[in-house]
Amino acid sequence: MCGIIGYIGQREAAPLLIEGLRRLEYRGYDSAGICVISDAGKFGIVREVGKIARLSEKLIKHPVKGTSGVGHTRWSTHGAPNHDNAHPHTDCTGGIVLVHNGIIENYLELKAQLLAKGHRFQSDTDTEVVAHLFEEQLFKVKKAQSSDAAILAVARAVLSKVKGSYALVVSANVWDGKIIGLRKECPLVAGKTQDEVFLASDIPALLPFTKEVVFIEDGEAVILKPGAHAPLYKLTGQAVRRDAVTVPWDNLMAAKGGHKHFMHKEIYDGPASFEDTLRGRIYDENIDALLRELGLNRSKVKGLGSINILGCGTAYYAGLVGEYIFEHFAGLRTHVEIASEFRYRERITGPGTLALAISQSGETADTLAAMKLLKARSGVTTAGIINQIGSTMTRTTGGTLYTRCGPEIGVASTKAFVAQLATLYLSAFAFGRVRGVLSAVEYKSLCDGLVHLSSSMRMALQRFEPLAKDLAARFQNAKGFLYLGRHVMYPVALEGALKLKEISYIHAEGYASGEMKHGPIALIDEQMPVFAFVPKSSSVYAKTASNLEEARARGAKIIAVASEGDKGIYKVADHVFESPKSMTEWFDPVIGVIAAQLFAYHVANLKGLDVDQPRNLAKSVTVE
Ligand code: AGP
Repeated sequence: MCGIIGYIGQREAAPLLIEGLRRLEYRGYDSAGICVISDAGKFGIVREVGKIARLSEKLIKHPVKGTSGVGHTRWSTHGAPNHDNAHPHTDCTGGIVLVHNGIIENYLELKAQLLAKGHRFQSDTDTEVVAHLFEEQLFKVKKAQSSDAAILAVARAVLSKVKGSYALVVSANVWDGKIIGLRKECPLVAGKTQDEVFLASDIPALLPFTKEVVFIEDGEAVILKPGAHAPLYKLTGQAVRRDAVTVPWDNLMAAKGGHKHFMHKEIYDGPASFEDTLRGRIYDENIDALLRELGLNRSKVKGLGSINILGCGTAYYAGLVGEYIFEHFAGLRTHVEIASEFRYRERITGPGTLALAISQSGETADTLAAMKLLKARSGVTTAGIINQIGSTMTRTTGGTLYTRCGPEIGVASTKAFVAQLATLYLSAFAFGRVRGVLSAVEYKSLCDGLVHLSSSMRMALQRFEPLAKDLAARFQNAKGFLYLGRHVMYPVALEGALKLKEISYIHAEGYASGEMKHGPIALIDEQMPVFAFVPKSSSVYAKTASNLEEARARGAKIIAVASEGDKGIYKVADHVFESPKSMTEWFDPVIGVIAAQLFAYHVANLKGLDVDQPRNLAKSVTVE
């Protein structure tokens, strides 16, 4: 996620662009930049690594004057967070400037074509490719036109070559001061006042100036013009009429997208995080690029003997799901370690070991320490599944497969967990394909399943939320909870218990449901409710259902995360989350965890607790 802002008006643009970017920092903040367009149409660009405050300081020494411009705060996906990779980007002539949020999936192919034509690049980003595509289109004609129709025609020609997602805000020095905003799968809103027009990635950036916003839809373009005009078009050129909406939020509410807490927003961001993490990394044509991100190649994958996954907390639980997936789909012996334990044990690793760290922050001390120890051992290749670009762990591992979920503000990890699962599916399926465990048909079918999973997630969110609220009211005073799951749902039981513990302060224990009779069943009575994952597609459904019968027979109230159409579950459960049918039991963790996240959230919210910053916890545990 990145933050974008555009402005045309009568006030000095720089301070307004900075003000807007400040309110978008929650979307990304590893570098930032603005371009102010002078009255003579000259582009004044200032960029800086780090947060907006540093860019603001730099502007004091390097002021740029003008009453229009664009700005960007970055959450890097391609190219390290440094000055050259910061937006805005330009073309070879400097006559085009643009900022971008999203992912250009085919940027490597386009960049190779442009380099072959003599284009010179200044960054490693996917975004810069688009600036050169505009250059190709704009400056190949004798006199570029500045009419809306001409600008749209150039944008159409450029975007016909681009695969991926984007919110683009572009200006050219031949467009008489106009700025165009283009949207496909990344948010873009326009705003206007009496004599100013604005564009932004998200509402918070507009609130200091206006509460009247117009939402841009996929495949649409908006052209900001001097004189406070912002006509809306379909990319095909057809004019679009859309009334402005008055936004009833204050700034902080807006940063949460209208959600009461960041955690709630981030639960709802789960599907988009899953999609973004998959983007450009699935199907046969992307296997080599995926392996490259991990610092691997086909022969290395074929030579792997085992995988050691390292992590803490939620990241560790994601790794446990990965254990089942890698073993089943890649035929690779996989062991998941709690990093804080692993670093003090004998670390027996055979030849061809892949040490895979999972970490949202990339700064967790125990995971870092364990990785460094493994890295020192011969025969061990290291890689990371990490969210925070440029974090310490990304410089410790041999390659990093980024979860693209943007900054996760809530201390309790939610969207990062589902994004971590996405990377584990991606890697296990690609490894399985390369190692000949999966046929081309099986691999494609699994990739198709991944692509459709986010719509099941969205359905689950809508379906689960009312029941989660109702159950939170019923169980908010429970003295404890037992979370049960089997097979690939066992790690989800652990994660669900952690969510409840860390934000509601109710003790909860995750257990392999087959283990219940080896002790924990002694805990069961009317005061010990059970939260169980028992999807119908599970190969161990019957066994888990009978565990629930045992618990119910001893008085427990049972909450089951089951499957739509499963009538039998009502014989063993008091309350049922009916999950949308999934293509295979292996995908059930992605859906099942949503029920646990929403339930924990609503219990903590009902108890009036600090959901986003629970007591005693830190977002990143950088100490032992
Ligand atoms: C999860 O909700 C917790 N915030 C915590 O367990 C977290 O997952 C753990 O500290 C690991 O953090 P990391 O992913 O940044 O390494």
